[in-house]
Amino acid sequence: MGIERSIETEEQTRADQKEPHRIVDTNLDDESGEQTDEISLRPVTFAEYIGQERLKSNLKLAIDAVKKRADGSALDHVLLYGPPGLGKTTMANVIAHEMGANLRVTSGPAIERAGDLASILTNLQPGDVLFIDEIHRLRRAVEEILYSAMEDCKLDIVIGKGPAARSVRLDLPKFTVIGATTRTGSLAGPLRDRFGLIHRLEYYKLPEIKRIIGRTAKLLSTEISDEATGLLATRSRLTPRIANRLTKRVRDYADVHGDGVIDVELATRALAMMEIDELGLDPADRNMLELMLENYGERPVGLNTLAALTGDEAATIEDYYEPYLLQLGLIERTPRGRAITEKARQHLAKLHSISN
Ligand code: ADE
Repeated sequence: MGIERSIETEEQTRADQKEPHRIVDTNLDDESGEQTDEISLRPVTFAEYIGQERLKSNLKLAIDAVKKRADGSALDHVLLYGPPGLGKTTMANVIAHEMGANLRVTSGPAIERAGDLASILTNLQPGDVLFIDEIHRLRRAVEEILYSAMEDCKLDIVIGKGPAARSVRLDLPKFTVIGATTRTGSLAGPLRDRFGLIHRLEYYKLPEIKRIIGRTAKLLSTEISDEATGLLATRSRLTPRIANRLTKRVRDYADVHGDGVIDVELATRALAMMEIDELGLDPADRNMLELMLENYGERPVGLNTLAALTGDEAATIEDYYEPYLLQLGLIERTPRGRAITEKARQHLAKLHSISN
């Protein structure tokens, strides 16, 4: 059992990812020095994994059934979708661990050519779990190879070029693909159909985020009061990745400006320094809302216009800013674009009155 990570693959992923430079919503894995830390914070069993109860019970059942059959069959392919930071990669780690299988990690944009996928597939051992992050970004030619691999454990490759070219069909060991995507809508139908288990990861409940913060503080050997845990939880956008990130930043602040203990007063000062407001919004979120309000008032604005206004990619807005703002009811999607809500207007007005 182990986790095999291809360095080349990960660097490629990083280069390809268009993550915004913001304090609360970047992938911790992207930051040098924090990778080991983050991996050791990750739960590896269902018992340690907090939240996503429905998903866990479905997965547990499927895993128990495979183990009980004991006929060498692999777990059905699993598709996990939902906003970033909710634990898709973490869940893939847990699944592999619970299956007693090796986890191989790659991503849609990292697999450039059909040959890249062929080499990954031919190196799989029986029962391996292949995690493909951002699976919606797989190229069509690569995706087509994956179809027969997932369905019949066969690899169809063409050897040679021109009239001498011939097609060869290789047998692959039984394996499980875990695909992760922020958008199921962008996934081709035939690919989606090859997953036996399809699940959406939901935003976490506040008590779950509190438990995650408590667990992380304990793993970091940092003392945190209940009140401070509650405060950090309300600012974490109901997202474990952000909860863990805030906990680590506040711990740094406590080590430098306090005696290492996180109480509510210290946490409040640290959050103010990070410019994270009561709703967990950071400067980038507020900037987007302000721009919508100033330029469009209550009228909807199209995604591309909004992207031009903020200077972000449209995909960044859709994947990173929008899901939580929608969840909070600060913006709404209409057929003519995104519109700011009364609640957002009140929030911005309140912040202005505090700062004036
Ligand atoms: N760290 C990140 N996500 C977690 C989760 N769901 N449970 C426990 N620890 C986590």
